[in-house]
Amino acid sequence: MKDIQFSYAKATTDAAVASYKAQVAQAQSDLVNGTGLGNDFLGWLTLPSDIRCQLDDIQATANLLREKCDIIVCIGIGGSYLGAKAVNEALLSSFAQLEGGKQIVYAGQNIGEDYLYELQNLLKGKRFGIISISKSGTTTEPALAFRLLKTQLEQQAGKAAAKELIVCITDAKRGALRTLATQEGYKTFVIEDNVGGRFSVLSPVGLLPIACAGFDIYKLIDGAERMMEVCGINTPFEQNPAALYAAARNVLYQKEGKKIELLVNFHPKLHYVSEWWKQLYGESEGKEHKGIFPASVDFTTDLHSMGQYIQDGERHLMETVISVAKPNHEVIFPHDEQNLDGLNFLAGKRVDEVNKMAELGTQIAHVDGGVPNMKIELPELNEYYLGELIYFFERGCGISGYLLGINPFNQPGVEAYKKNMFALLDKPGYEAESKAIKARL
Ligand code: PA5
Repeated sequence: MKDIQFSYAKATTDAAVASYKAQVAQAQSDLVNGTGLGNDFLGWLTLPSDIRCQLDDIQATANLLREKCDIIVCIGIGGSYLGAKAVNEALLSSFAQLEGGKQIVYAGQNIGEDYLYELQNLLKGKRFGIISISKSGTTTEPALAFRLLKTQLEQQAGKAAAKELIVCITDAKRGALRTLATQEGYKTFVIEDNVGGRFSVLSPVGLLPIACAGFDIYKLIDGAERMMEVCGINTPFEQNPAALYAAARNVLYQKEGKKIELLVNFHPKLHYVSEWWKQLYGESEGKEHKGIFPASVDFTTDLHSMGQYIQDGERHLMETVISVAKPNHEVIFPHDEQNLDGLNFLAGKRVDEVNKMAELGTQIAHVDGGVPNMKIELPELNEYYLGELIYFFERGCGISGYLLGINPFNQPGVEAYKKNMFALLDKPGYEAESKAIKARL
């Protein structure tokens, strides 16, 4: 079976990439031996094999929820929702919401009152269940959504029935969500201490909502486990895709001043893979006033909005294109006798052939325009290759963070807004901050 492929041929040279070989070896060794920064958060490294013993329980829980619910609400923010959403959106039909069947919807990823009102409205009288995910168990956005939706579920289904329709995924002992789940007797899964939120998609955090959407979590883990081997310390640098990706993007950032990496796709279903990737790299690397800024575009859609800037604007961009070799479905472009639209030159071709030429044409144009172009090729869009892609990016992120000299596994900067918000909302315990911030208004 072919694996996903990474190539930097249109971005930089073998020699430039090889100049990072020793640093990458050190980073890999620090990851594997736990000798680097943030070494208490390395559980993700072996998660693909460690999680196997929980897959049957996760699948059985998903089966129960699917049996009892028409809509499953996944509550979580950041790493507690983006991985599941990325995989589900990549695999669901683009029009799943209009096609009926089981619906997976998300909450707790914002504090939009209209969003929550509309969600409550949608759930009125429906058979719904809740997966509430928060590692800390104290994050405001999901906690707020959970209280609202749990109240609604209990009113609609009754407290006893609601209990069977709620699953919590949180820390083993700490946090308000753990206390609540224990008190109410909800089914729970644990997020291990050594797995950070944005590295948790291959834990119950991602796997339960993915199984609830009807996708094969065993194949996802098979793919991830395969990449664990391919990207591991025993694979030589020159054949190790995660090592090469980390090295190539750091060549472009540290030596060529490319400060922004655009993750590009030519498949709209990959939009949320980019959102997940942005969180993974942004929250991991943006520290100490350093770090490549992760951004994303969906092509060809955004060629008609951001295309101009990418081609001609400031030259601080690099691109990483996710290319899917073989779409899951075939659409042949029809011949038309009158040819009024002048498109008969496409007749008999697959739509994907047009898309692929757009991809190639864009690559050539952007490279000519001074935007180095890296490429990740997925043989197909399925659970197995998404599992490979997830682990590839996680491993690349761990290595790349160490090449930058920062701790990729913490997120101290995220606390600043929370402190202000709590002070402004008069949360008990924030009296001094409240006084200070209000004096500034
Ligand atoms: O990667 C991270 O650690 C964060 O993005 C968290 O996932 C996010 O802040 C949500 O945290 P929690 O799961 O504790 O609610």
